Amino acid sequence: MAYEFIEVRTEGGKVGIITLNRPKQLNALNSQLMVELGQALKAFDADEAIGCMIVTGSEKAFAAGADIGAMATYSFADVYRDDYITRDWETIRSIRKPVIAAVSGFALGGGCELAMMCDFIIAADNAKFGQPEIKLGVIPGAGGTQRLPRAVGKSKAMDLVLTGRMMNAEEAERAGLASRVVPLDKLMEEALGAALMICEYGQLAVMAAKESVNRAFEGSLNDGVMFERRLFHALFATSDQKEGMDAFVNKRKGQFTHR
Ligand code: CAA
Repeated sequence: MAYEFIEVRTEGGKVGIITLNRPKQLNALNSQLMVELGQALKAFDADEAIGCMIVTGSEKAFAAGADIGAMATYSFADVYRDDYITRDWETIRSIRKPVIAAVSGFALGGGCELAMMCDFIIAADNAKFGQPEIKLGVIPGAGGTQRLPRAVGKSKAMDLVLTGRMMNAEEAERAGLASRVVPLDKLMEEALGAALMICEYGQLAVMAAKESVNRAFEGSLNDGVMFERRLFHALFATSDQKEGMDAFVNKRKGQFTHR
């Protein structure tokens, strides 16, 4: 299948590799990219020869978030009616074989959330993680307020979500967000090594292991994600969202009026 915003290949006939490919926008995640990602993941999941998948980006950016330019003028009615985010982002949660995020560069906002939707994160030493949505007058809208505290605990999650600061790869590993950190030039080798090792094991056991680990912390995740989404959508009714996103698009500092 021909894709516009992702590249798809296999390694050793066993590992499906998906590379996010919107370099000029630092892999900002628009709807089409997320639809393509979902299609590619589903195709690999259905392919008996594939035992594991890797999602990666460029050296500079895994993904710098949801596409701000695309959503800057959205209203509450637009995002609520179309179930913005959910509609195109949920496919990855239905994938039953393991998906590794190989992260270099920026993994911000929806980029960090996408990495957290994968089963584990291997980070290059130049990786930077963050949930900077607060700077845009909104909150994370693809599970960030739910998955980040589960990964790094409440204090660090609050710090990141409320200040919008980035954390580097070393801090992300120490906090439990990344499972390993490796030099940038070893990132794909390390991710492939892990993927090929997983492919050696019984596929049913691998799928059962993934399903079971997910049960350890998904109990109330659906409620949390739905709650978050409604608030995320509601913030499109505020002038601070319009101001925050317009300021980003027009490369100026936002002036929030708290309305
Ligand atoms: N959406 C759309 N375009 C983006 C983008 C995004 N999330 N992130 C970067 N870009 C674009 C920039 O507009 C710029 O485009 P032009 O060259 O046409 O001007 C290009 O990518 C390169 O970006 P910068 O010039 O800003 O590069 P930089 O190296 O100076 O800074 C950065 C890099 C710190 C990542 C900065 O681009 C940035 O802060 N990006 C936005 C990060 C962000 O706020 N993400 C959250 C988005 S909201 C969200 O994700 C909601 C949700 O929870 C689902």
